[in-house]
Amino acid sequence: MNRFCFSLVSCLFVVMSGALCAAEDSAQGAAREKAQDQTLKNRFAPLFDVGTAVSPFQLEGLNAEFVARHFNSLTPENCMKPEALYRPDGNYHFAPADAIVRFAKANGMKVRGHTLVWHSQTPRKFFVDHEGTPLDKDALYARMEEYISKVMNHFRGDVYCWDVVNEALSDEGDEIYRTRSPWFEVCGKDFIAHAFRVAHKVDPNVKLFYNDYNLISPAKREKAVRMLRELLASGVPVAGVGMQAHWDMETFDPLELQKSIDAFVELGLEVQITELDLTIYPPYHGAQDAARSGSAPRKDYTPEIEERHAEKYAQVFEVLCRNADHITSVTFWGITDRYSWLNMYPCPGRTDHPLLFDRENRPKEAFHRVMEAKESSIQTEE
Ligand code: GLA
Repeated sequence: MNRFCFSLVSCLFVVMSGALCAAEDSAQGAAREKAQDQTLKNRFAPLFDVGTAVSPFQLEGLNAEFVARHFNSLTPENCMKPEALYRPDGNYHFAPADAIVRFAKANGMKVRGHTLVWHSQTPRKFFVDHEGTPLDKDALYARMEEYISKVMNHFRGDVYCWDVVNEALSDEGDEIYRTRSPWFEVCGKDFIAHAFRVAHKVDPNVKLFYNDYNLISPAKREKAVRMLRELLASGVPVAGVGMQAHWDMETFDPLELQKSIDAFVELGLEVQITELDLTIYPPYHGAQDAARSGSAPRKDYTPEIEERHAEKYAQVFEVLCRNADHITSVTFWGITDRYSWLNMYPCPGRTDHPLLFDRENRPKEAFHRVMEAKESSIQTEE
């Protein structure tokens, strides 16, 4: 080829590849514009429900429309916890949770109940009598029964599943159960089985879940499998596992998520992702130390971080889509970055960007990648 021909061919190549790229960009642009009109709940309707955690004040004005548009399941972020509901005189404080249920009904959404038995956000007065004397095991079980039946009966027909026990497993070495829990201290591990049996007796039509965090860490997964296998072998009515999914960009590993889903499915359990968010900061246990030492990190949401964040979210949804036969619901922990608990925890006042929508309810790159996620095959180790 002479020099003239070579230049001509190169020019044509450059022009054509430029045109191809432009065409690709504009096709992607058009697809994304379309995606702006699409909603999470519609995109994933054939696979699983898409939910969000909410407080009643987030169901007003523009947010109300936004929540109803994207989600078909609601979890009260705080107002169905014992701390919010329980009153020793029996006049439980149901009003805020009722407002969420009303909104869900008006918009054809489901409600996940969260949570009945937990060591945290349960008031001290739950564990003592009217004179302040700590309850013994029998008395505490009687209180548990009274509480579960009152709460489940109140929401009967409106709440289709309950996180019956939250976070009963330990993060410490070989310790299986969280021993520093007012439940464990008085009842030992039996409180877990007891809570499920009581809940099932109150309403056998409600799906009962065990809910916990870090369930993709091999050690915690092993503890969860051991506990759940034992519960199921004794006939305890556990229907599913709620994987909280407070993940981070550094340690989230799609292979570990797959292994945990496989392990729970093998036990015959349904899986739900109950509290999904992806912090842009290091895992919060590390951040807690940093906060204590006064050197809590601050990060800007740079284009580079936004891209990595979106990439991680795509990985999460690839696994979830691939396992849709076993996953019935995926709930984000918060509607937009503005309302995420991670702006307050573990470092108060920190700005985090863990969700799919920014502080003005605008979809982020992560939203688009989630909407585009396909159940691509991920290499397994074997
Ligand atoms: C846990 C609980 C939730 C919520 C989050 C943090 O995951 O299950 O109810 O408190 O922590 O907001």
